[in-house]
Amino acid sequence: MALVSPLSGPILGIESSCDDTAASVLGPDGQIIAESVARQLDHEAFGGVVPEIAARAHLALLPALVARTMAEAGLNFSDLGAIAATTGPGLIGGLIVGSGYGKGVAIAYGKPFLAINHLEAHALTARLPSLGLGAEFPYLLLLVSGGHCQCIAVEGVGQHTRLGGTIDDAAGEAFDKVAKLLGLGWPGGPALEMLAAQGNPTAYRFPRPLAGRAGCDFSFSGLKTAVATVIATFPHGALPREAAADIAASFQQAVADTIADRAAHAMAMFRELHPTGNLLVVAGGVAANATLRAALLAACDKARFRFAAPPLKYCTDNATMVAWAGLERLRAGAQGEDLAIAPRPRWPLAELTP
Ligand code: KG4
Ligand code: ZN
Repeated sequence: MALVSPLSGPILGIESSCDDTAASVLGPDGQIIAESVARQLDHEAFGGVVPEIAARAHLALLPALVARTMAEAGLNFSDLGAIAATTGPGLIGGLIVGSGYGKGVAIAYGKPFLAINHLEAHALTARLPSLGLGAEFPYLLLLVSGGHCQCIAVEGVGQHTRLGGTIDDAAGEAFDKVAKLLGLGWPGGPALEMLAAQGNPTAYRFPRPLAGRAGCDFSFSGLKTAVATVIATFPHGALPREAAADIAASFQQAVADTIADRAAHAMAMFRELHPTGNLLVVAGGVAANATLRAALLAACDKARFRFAAPPLKYCTDNATMVAWAGLERLRAGAQGEDLAIAPRPRWPLAELTP
């Protein structure tokens, strides 16, 4: 029997590394055939993602979600060219569920399995043909989500240079923690942005951690402490709404200024590595923030970089980015993994192979 190339059939992608359960099917050219995401809301009452709850929810949601997505695509597993699943980094329970499910389908139907690094999936999203962002290698990625905050030079499939990252909290984590201090719900970013719209961003002068410092590392814990200190000056439970709005707006401005400063440094570092490179791509849930986008746009203008942001649903966790990363890896010559590959809670980009 002639061997059929995995690139001749559609690819199924699975994402389950945090609190979103997602499946997607892409055609061999990268066109989106069907995609679904189930955002787990069970964590709301706890004010953050609870790993064990996330793992159980992935287990409960994933099989039906994949079946629905395949049905929407009008495909059976036997029609697939390959299966790609996020295998790290992330919460181990969810990674076991998603990659285990993907391997199961791969074994049952004799298809190649691609173990996808979640960070690489975010990094390669900008190249998804239907987005039309024209992201050719190399480009600079700023990933700002609830779990990650880093600047990466994306040089090729499996070729990434991490230029810097957070030394304490991720940007989204800072938004979530400050939102909690302000008595807002979870996830805190969107609620905080809404409150900030009614406040004065210059009412409080919060620190811009590491701003002006060499490199492009980030730090948010000192900023969070500064906000907590201001809130503590009000009697417990008696923070007036106007003051809360001013605090939210001032905090948001401090984060936007800080990230824009770090991104400016990252662009300079990127230029040293790639003198002709001129594209900054932003990804992650925090990329939804309009104040941050405006600050980044200004920084890009100044550095003569083009600024690109995928639509929000591809900035946040999704399985289309996982399937696309799988397709990119196949195109780059990947054959599929040895199925003994284990999920990795920690999996730095530096450990990927071209
Ligand atoms: O990428 P994402 O959906 O999930 C991961 O963390 O992987 O990012 C979620 C994070 C949360 O921390 C949330 O508060 C933050 O993104 N976020 C925002 C906004 N929308 C979501 N932060 C600031 N402003 C927003 N509009
Ligand atoms: Zn993510």
